[in-house]
Amino acid sequence: FKSTPANIVIFGGFGDLAWRKLIPAFYNLYISGYLPEKFAIYGVHYQGLPEGAYEKHMLEGVNLFSRRGKAKAAEWKKFTDHLYFFQGDFTIDETYTRLKATLDENDKKWKTRATRLLYYSVAPSFIEVISNSVSKHNIAAQREKDRIVVEKPFGTDLASAKGLNDLLNKLFYENQIYRIDHYLGKEVVQNISAFRFANYIFEPLWNSKFIDQVQISVTESVSVGTRGSYYDKSGALRDMVQNHLLQLLSLVAMECPGNYDAEDIRKQKVKVLKKVRPFTTATAIQDVVRAQYTRGEVKGKEQPGYKEETNVARNSTTETYVAMKVWIDNPRWKGVPFYLRTGKSLEKQSSVIVVQFKDSPHKIFKDDVVPNRLVISIQPEQKISLLFEGKVPGLEMKLKPLEMDFSYHDSFIEEAPEAYETLLLDALEGDATQFIRADQVETAWSIVMPILNAWSKEKGDMKKYKAGSWGPKEAEDLIKEGRIKWLMLP
Ligand code: BG6
Repeated sequence: FKSTPANIVIFGGFGDLAWRKLIPAFYNLYISGYLPEKFAIYGVHYQGLPEGAYEKHMLEGVNLFSRRGKAKAAEWKKFTDHLYFFQGDFTIDETYTRLKATLDENDKKWKTRATRLLYYSVAPSFIEVISNSVSKHNIAAQREKDRIVVEKPFGTDLASAKGLNDLLNKLFYENQIYRIDHYLGKEVVQNISAFRFANYIFEPLWNSKFIDQVQISVTESVSVGTRGSYYDKSGALRDMVQNHLLQLLSLVAMECPGNYDAEDIRKQKVKVLKKVRPFTTATAIQDVVRAQYTRGEVKGKEQPGYKEETNVARNSTTETYVAMKVWIDNPRWKGVPFYLRTGKSLEKQSSVIVVQFKDSPHKIFKDDVVPNRLVISIQPEQKISLLFEGKVPGLEMKLKPLEMDFSYHDSFIEEAPEAYETLLLDALEGDATQFIRADQVETAWSIVMPILNAWSKEKGDMKKYKAGSWGPKEAEDLIKEGRIKWLMLP
């Protein structure tokens, strides 16, 4: 792989994602020695920039957002020998003629046809024109070498996602399309498959006989901030549940794949998503809570209410919080509820998956025995904990819940890469395992569509929660019927 040169093109190369995530990720891959010896990155942006302004801005991004902190001057200098600003309007042919000539020129210089990675870091409205032009100009014409990475949002509903898939599949082969969900690049998320399928002791327990319920909770303390114009048209269900939370659910719930490869894993993930019980209007009201934050205080700082945010309609009906109960109708998960929740402007950032085991059917101790619980913490801590009962030292038989912990921080000296580093490298290497196939994205949309439809008919009241709280009371009521609360790290 390292000896295969690569041409990388970021459409939207001067945008926020490139600044915060993509260039810092490529830079880290470069200094860790993961990029090919010969490579070039082109950041395509419609406006011209003064000489050196692009590199300067990107360096600022690396210094602010790279997990390694500030770039070393000499390393950054070497990296910029591979980083180019490319002024070009996405909507005109001339951009693509020049782009093709530039990439062809590199191929000539490198004496081989390089891998091409085209990254769409653009508003969804540009995907069609860019794809048509890339195809027309034969920029991604080699099925095995040319890849297109498509950022979320992948459509705004099932129909638009299908439309987008049709367009991409008409112009390119499915194995060239890398639909990205950055949650799949997170270290602990990648570990879920290892944990489940490399440790045989858990597999016999991983079903409705032993598991009482599963909670998947992705809470954020950040507000919509500067993203009001996008978010107000999206909301938490589209922004987080349709993609990140359902991907986490499929990793926890899927059957063991035949092989650890893109096709088998993605097949199993779609299979389990297809078994999610479809919501009806009644269950969309009863089992789904939607809510919006009102003025409050997050981490000691005043936080305006959602409707007061910039670029948010003053009478907005967009949800910033969702909690829901999901059933999976297959033998493994019969009768096991999956509780999902996510929201913005909450008390704390925390992404956790909690597998709550059943109570022991036979009680021999006087003390209340707390059922076992496995907590997979994705962020901010990267940790897997198993809660179990043990005896308190002393003359009496007294029990106490204890924790068996695996923390990345304590177990490894290696620092975990950023999700984008992992996924960009996979895409460069042509490994689509952690990317979303067309049918996966459509199945995930099918799950949320009845809820969106019910809401569009004004069914299911919009609840309120104070910024800085843990969300609306109704979400607590939803989980209470599962007899326990929303759980966090012990
Ligand atoms: C993005 C959403 O996909 O994920 C954002 O659009 C959200 O609204 C973000 O804040 C959360 O990602 P992370 O990696 O910070 O948990």
